[in-house]
Amino acid sequence: MFDLATNKTALDKTQDEGRQGEAFAPFAVDLNAYQKLFYIESYGCQMNFADSEVVAAILQKEGFGATRNLEEADLIFINTCSIREKAEQTVRKRLTEFRKLKEQKRGMLVGVLGCMAERLKSKFLEEEKLVDLVVGPDAYRSLPGLVAEAEGGQKAVNVLLSREETYSDIAPVRLDSNGVSAYVSIMRGCNNMCSFCVVPFTRGRERSRDANSIIHECTSLFQEGYKEVTLLGQNVDSYYYQDSNNNSAPITFAILLESVAMISPQLRVRFSTSHPKDITDEVLQTMARNNNICKYIHLPVQSGSTRVLQLMNRTYTREWYMSKVDRIREIMPDCGISSDVITGFCTEEERDHLDTISIMEYSKYDFSYMFFYSERPGTLAQRRYVDDIPEPTKKRRLAEIVSIQNRLSLESNKRDLGKRFEVLIEGDSKKNSNDWKGRSSQNKVIVFPKGDRELNKGDYVTVHVTDCTQATLLGEIV
Ligand code: SAH
Ligand code: SF4
Ligand code: F3S
Repeated sequence: MFDLATNKTALDKTQDEGRQGEAFAPFAVDLNAYQKLFYIESYGCQMNFADSEVVAAILQKEGFGATRNLEEADLIFINTCSIREKAEQTVRKRLTEFRKLKEQKRGMLVGVLGCMAERLKSKFLEEEKLVDLVVGPDAYRSLPGLVAEAEGGQKAVNVLLSREETYSDIAPVRLDSNGVSAYVSIMRGCNNMCSFCVVPFTRGRERSRDANSIIHECTSLFQEGYKEVTLLGQNVDSYYYQDSNNNSAPITFAILLESVAMISPQLRVRFSTSHPKDITDEVLQTMARNNNICKYIHLPVQSGSTRVLQLMNRTYTREWYMSKVDRIREIMPDCGISSDVITGFCTEEERDHLDTISIMEYSKYDFSYMFFYSERPGTLAQRRYVDDIPEPTKKRRLAEIVSIQNRLSLESNKRDLGKRFEVLIEGDSKKNSNDWKGRSSQNKVIVFPKGDRELNKGDYVTVHVTDCTQATLLGEIV
């Protein structure tokens, strides 16, 4: 599937273009060289995980070393999520566990980063007495200074949001990476104001990162041996970058996507998340044209009811969404589609719920993330509507859509029986080290026996699907 013949030329071309970008020198990791060690734990979306890698880079540059061992850390950071009440509860619980460590180890500092830091600001220091630093998503460059302040006994807070910050010149230090796939942040913030969502408040205004720095980072990753990049943003289809220093044409998401795909046919490109209102034919055609852009779109529907979608401020109707699904299938018949669904949003009636079920059936999602509505302070929905669906009803509806999705996932996997897929090997299967685990372009996990072939993680291999469960395809190397 991958065109090895064109590999070199495409890479060389991008390297030339990338020279205009900033330096991306990796930091040497020699634990003895560091005086202080930091530990960082991340919650929430992929963007938060990507941010933790930026934080690690900033701290390493200042002479702090990363550790995976909580007990030996001098600084503990928790990168938090506010998307649902439950996410915040998990963080609070974790903070009380850190308290015990703090009591044992004098001088140890605990810092709260990310969306919950931004939402609660200095209230965090008052509510959670054990926290020493509170740093919002746009203030990570100030971390070294804040750590120094906290070490001096002051409570350190910086939750300023920025209209410009994209950390574009910072080469993330890959944490917990399998060495095959990496996340690359292409934009920050969100301008959409979906009524249920806290993200515009915790992450601020949307801004796109310098395209040169993105291509440069992806090229470096490929040279280091990575085989897959996932371009990240809350709404990647609204990516738009105009270089302020020259008069070249603006770069849209479709152009960026193709430029990253040009780095090498051996580098897979994924992206997340697409807003149904913004995904264009141009993006779909770009995907169809490039073998190494994975045929998989995460297209969150949230609800199948036009009335509820309107209250959610999603700006599309049920019919518009369905026509997007049709268009994707028309341009890429083999494209995987997944979704996010919220049940029990304000005023949701049984017939709205049935509309959600029918749109799931219509879209034949391979996979969905499903949640019941959790009211978030400060959001449009919290200010305008009553959270009026009783919890048992929310949970019953959630259970119903989960069981429907389980069936759809199994049906989708059954449609793949007998087919062959190009699989990127990610490593050993969790259950059995005699098996490889990898992913198809459609983002489905495939497990298959290693056999006698000399293969490594990061290799591509063609796999024939012989069996499946609801979550996994099983197969054999061809
Ligand atoms: N930018 C992405 C979504 C990011 S948040 C998009 O627009 O699709 C990830 C998912 O969390 C959302 O798609 C939504 O399904 C869910 N979510 C967001 N706010 C929520 C809330 N208040 N209660 C329940 N689920 C929520
Ligand atoms: Fe939240 Fe909507 Fe923005 Fe997604 S697009 S982050 S759901 S406001
Ligand atoms: Fe959570 Fe913030 Fe991401 S609220 S989902 S970590 S943008």
